[in-house]
Amino acid sequence: VKIGIAGASGRLGRLVITRLLELAPAEDIVAITRTPEKLEDFADLGVDVRQGDYDDADSLVTAFKHVERLLLIPSNAMAAVRHEQYDNAIMAAKRMRVQHLVTYTLEGTTPGNPFALNPAHVYAEMALFQSKIPWTIIRTGPYADELVDWLPTIIELGSIPYPTASGKAPYVSRDDIARATAKLLLSDKIAGTIPEFVGPEMLSTEDLCRIAAEVTGEDIIYVPAEPADYVQIRMEEGMSEQDAVVLATMYIAIAEHRMEKAHLGGIEKLTGVAPKSVRELLAEKIASE
Ligand SMILES: NC(=O)c1ccc[n+]([C@@H]2O[C@H](COP(=O)([O-])OP(=O)(O)OC[C@H]3O[C@@H](n4cnc5c(N)ncnc54)[C@H](OP(=O)(O)O)[C@@H]3O)[C@@H](O)[C@H]2O)c1
Repeated sequence: VKIGIAGASGRLGRLVITRLLELAPAEDIVAITRTPEKLEDFADLGVDVRQGDYDDADSLVTAFKHVERLLLIPSNAMAAVRHEQYDNAIMAAKRMRVQHLVTYTLEGTTPGNPFALNPAHVYAEMALFQSKIPWTIIRTGPYADELVDWLPTIIELGSIPYPTASGKAPYVSRDDIARATAKLLLSDKIAGTIPEFVGPEMLSTEDLCRIAAEVTGEDIIYVPAEPADYVQIRMEEGMSEQDAVVLATMYIAIAEHRMEKAHLGGIEKLTGVAPKSVRELLAEKIASE
């Protein structure tokens, strides 16, 4: 089967291609990106790298030629823009007779969730359900990479200022999501399912602080933070206000316990290998420095 990955040049996209290359011939992989030069390393390995922009429906029609299964990795655009991007991608997929659509949303996707990108996720799920193309919706946990990459600041602050109160979430690494996605894209039994690619345990931010303290040997203690505290700290580090506010709303959703209904174990069931815990990911980060 020819497998297309759209939105392929981001961090998750590159990991999905890397993991697919372990399981399938490069000629069967079509990587679709606004910026093909970013994927030259994969083109050198034989991956078919094509230009395709979610904002340009015609470019997608050309890019989806002969693609049988298509993974739509959402862009990093704001919610309202993503609606149109999904419309463009689904229209192009229909025209090119793509046989199966797969995309990502987040645990807790449901109307009324306060996460700023929730409307885009609700829209994406509805759009795939109604597309008349066989679909699979992957709901992921929040990326653990976000926490791991933030470790220097966490040590400096002596806390993790996520405004989650006592809410818990199944943090998961991008690489485990990619590994399971590669396996899923090559499976024949996925149509009409909503797999959950989440980490191995449900953790509060107090748990995260305890684990970070044990792994680093530093004093890291949870002091309940407000969304505004989180946004300010992120902006002081150079993040845009918009991105900081979007992330803060994800932690508000966690504070509302909206991820706690997640079913753990989906990645292990599909791949035979459990996803890494936050403890393992933090230990790996420290060992690599
Ligand atoms: N679960 C979570 O905690 C979590 C956290 C963050 C993000 N996410 C979701 O996961 C997705 C992937 O995450 P990531 O970390 O891999 O993001 P990323 O590294 O920021 O990559 C996003 C990619 O979107 C591409 N893109 C932007 N606009 C596009 C367009 N109009 N057409 C085609 N491609 C476009 C960009 O490609 P170019 O190279 O062309 O600029 C960029 O490479 C995100 O978009 C987001 O929806 C989830």
